[in-house]
Amino acid sequence: MRSLILILAVMALLGSVVWSAEAPASFTVCGECHAAVPGVAKDKTGPSLHGVYGRKVASLPGYEYSGGLKKLSESSWNEMLLDRFMSMPSAMAPGTKMPVHITEQTKRLEIIRYLKTLK
Ligand code: HEC
Repeated sequence: MRSLILILAVMALLGSVVWSAEAPASFTVCGECHAAVPGVAKDKTGPSLHGVYGRKVASLPGYEYSGGLKKLSESSWNEMLLDRFMSMPSAMAPGTKMPVHITEQTKRLEIIRYLKTLK
């Protein structure tokens, strides 16, 4: 009986870990161009967002970034930069290849919270 309880407790724990990393609906659009797993995905036009939080801008090895984004490569992705980039990529990095933006701040914050879990 005790081992059954232990197994259930471990399963509940694993379940909560999986659930916390669940992508919010607002991330669906990002997933069209970005993988959430490590490495360069051949079927995606953008770089993988796995580990992007805290990573230097335009630094995923093997991904061909635009000159606009490479100009910012001294900085690392934090909440402020991700929020600015998502609200209007071309304003922050003129010439960037990322064509979409997210108008609602609540969605941007939700996405940033999710990006932090991709590590
Ligand atoms: C239509 C395709 C497309 C969509 C949709 C898209 N992106 Fe991008 N994204 C790109 C491309 C292409 C780049 C590379 C930009 C460059 O080199 O200028 C990029 C770059 C990025 C980067 C910089 C990564 C790095 O390694 O420095 C972040 C962060 C990012 N996108 C986040 C997002 C988020 C979050 C969403 C959803 C709100 C999103 N993108 C939606 C195409 C897209």
